[in-house]
Amino acid sequence: MTTFGRPRLHLRLTDSTNDRARELAEAGAPGGTVVTAEEQTAGRGRRGRVWSAPAGSALLYSALLRPLELEHVLLPLSVPIAVCEAIESLTPVRCEVKWPNDIWIEERKVAGVLIEARPPDWAVIGVGLNVAIADEDFPADLRWPATSIGSGVSVARAQLAVSRELGEWVEAPQARVLAAFRERDALAGREVSWEGAGGASGAGSGRAAGIDERGNIVVELSDGGRVSLGSGEVSLRLG
Ligand code: BTN
Repeated sequence: MTTFGRPRLHLRLTDSTNDRARELAEAGAPGGTVVTAEEQTAGRGRRGRVWSAPAGSALLYSALLRPLELEHVLLPLSVPIAVCEAIESLTPVRCEVKWPNDIWIEERKVAGVLIEARPPDWAVIGVGLNVAIADEDFPADLRWPATSIGSGVSVARAQLAVSRELGEWVEAPQARVLAAFRERDALAGREVSWEGAGGASGAGSGRAAGIDERGNIVVELSDGGRVSLGSGEVSLRLG
């Protein structure tokens, strides 16, 4: 089992903790190394989006997993589960996952995950978790309403909880990961549309019908057909 958070490098200011962790990975840092920062100047989200948070009020966290092995094949599912469990250990809320990487509390985004990997050597697991951001301090142009853990939780406690739960989940058996994800699947049964997939299913819409064994989302089409979409290729939205 990987123990996350030992060693840990905490920075007051950096461009992106994922970039720092990637450098450490390439320099031979051990699995479990964590980089955190109080503030990022170039925080990145999925699909080239920007991730920003006021200094000191979010967990900006990147963990190194190495080597990448077959047991990590469901990492894109196990990491959001770990973040959900970390949040729920800190405050009495229920978290769901909007496949593949958004963590929601009551349909508002509280955290996002950005995994960047160089298989088979390493993966950097990036987590941005809103801990104490007031509603009025979120950027006005967010694509989806955001929220924060609040209730007096500190960033330091959030870091410990995320490290602990990553240790619990990243090497968990696949059947356990799939079952846990299906219980938290915020999209199941809802109308979704997507774009960006390769081949015949380049763009479309339908009803989300759960996650398959590989961690892809399955969508039922109006003609009765089904497509399976991978997290690396599509941008998915509700409705
Ligand atoms: C998303 O929701 O699109 C993923 C957001 C991931 C943000 C975190 S913050 C820490 C780490 N460093 C980054 O530059 N990005 C991730």
